[in-house]
Amino acid sequence: MSAPTIATTPVSIERDLLGDFVHVVEEAAIASTRTMGQGDAKAADQAAVHAMRNAFEAIHMAGNIVIGEGERDKAPMLYIGEPVGAKAPDGVQFPRVDIAVDPLEGTNLCAQGTPNSICVLAASEPGGLLHAPDCYMQKIIAGPACRDALDIDAPVKYNLKAIAHCLDRQVKDLVIMVLDRPRHEELIAQIRGAGARIKLIPDGDLSAGIAAAVRGAGVHAVFGTGGAPEGVLTAAALRCLSGEMVARLEINTKELEERVERMGIRDPKRVYTARDLAPGDQIIFAACGVTDGALLHGVRFFGDGCRTHTLAMTYASRQVRFIDTVHMFREPGNRGVRLY
Ligand code: FBP
Repeated sequence: MSAPTIATTPVSIERDLLGDFVHVVEEAAIASTRTMGQGDAKAADQAAVHAMRNAFEAIHMAGNIVIGEGERDKAPMLYIGEPVGAKAPDGVQFPRVDIAVDPLEGTNLCAQGTPNSICVLAASEPGGLLHAPDCYMQKIIAGPACRDALDIDAPVKYNLKAIAHCLDRQVKDLVIMVLDRPRHEELIAQIRGAGARIKLIPDGDLSAGIAAAVRGAGVHAVFGTGGAPEGVLTAAALRCLSGEMVARLEINTKELEERVERMGIRDPKRVYTARDLAPGDQIIFAACGVTDGALLHGVRFFGDGCRTHTLAMTYASRQVRFIDTVHMFREPGNRGVRLY
């Protein structure tokens, strides 16, 4: 007779796994920062993926990658549907967790040593994160003050007026972040035409989206089209920060149409909010800085170790933590631990 199964489902994913997930993004950040400025975006990404995958192996969970490096045949690791986590002993069941990863958001930023590259993940109970296809997504992102004020189908100037009104300022006082891409030429002209100011970013609309939801970061909204996987991760962060987002997948080929249908998305034109993209009741969002950015420091190495800076947030327990960690690679020598 087989032994009875002992369910070790934690009362709270947020409470029981937050520290483990912080460790995962820190490991990915340390590994990818080793490649910083080497001009090799692929190597930087692979270092992060590898470190993330290894770190997942120690976590007592039945993890399922819902957003990752792509399909199984194209990605050797952290592919969509890949099971991750420690192997449970016979008769023990680890908690099921859905995980969205962007092992290195801003691969080019890391490769060039420019700001705002981060290692990111979000985790939730099964079904708590949309299984979005790897396509583009049109997005408008703003902070909590803009509750229900964004309309993806309205003219740009309407949304800018609404954001300005919610923030109790004029449109000319707004700073809007936009990915610097030829596809945004018309959007940029409209934002400028409405009188708002623009910060063009070379990459990284995920960290831009988080910054827009945090007061004092000097950015009031993000407009434009970026990756859908990044959109789901941004939504997970926004749920924790009560930020606002409206988004729509860009389904412009027959192949993509069929793909989203297979993924169970019935209305490809649907307008999503942050809650639609990350509907979980329990959400963990963790991002560790690789290169210095608006919210996070990059990894700083010293003789015997390094120092990381991580943003770790939870939805149900409403916590936003900035975690400053000194990692010792060996016994600190006579120089001791560096605290600044
Ligand atoms: P990577 O880190 O995968 O290179 O993504 C960076 C990024 O700028 C995202 O922040 C953004 O959503 C997406 O690429 C935009 O895609 P594209 O570079 O094709 O315009």
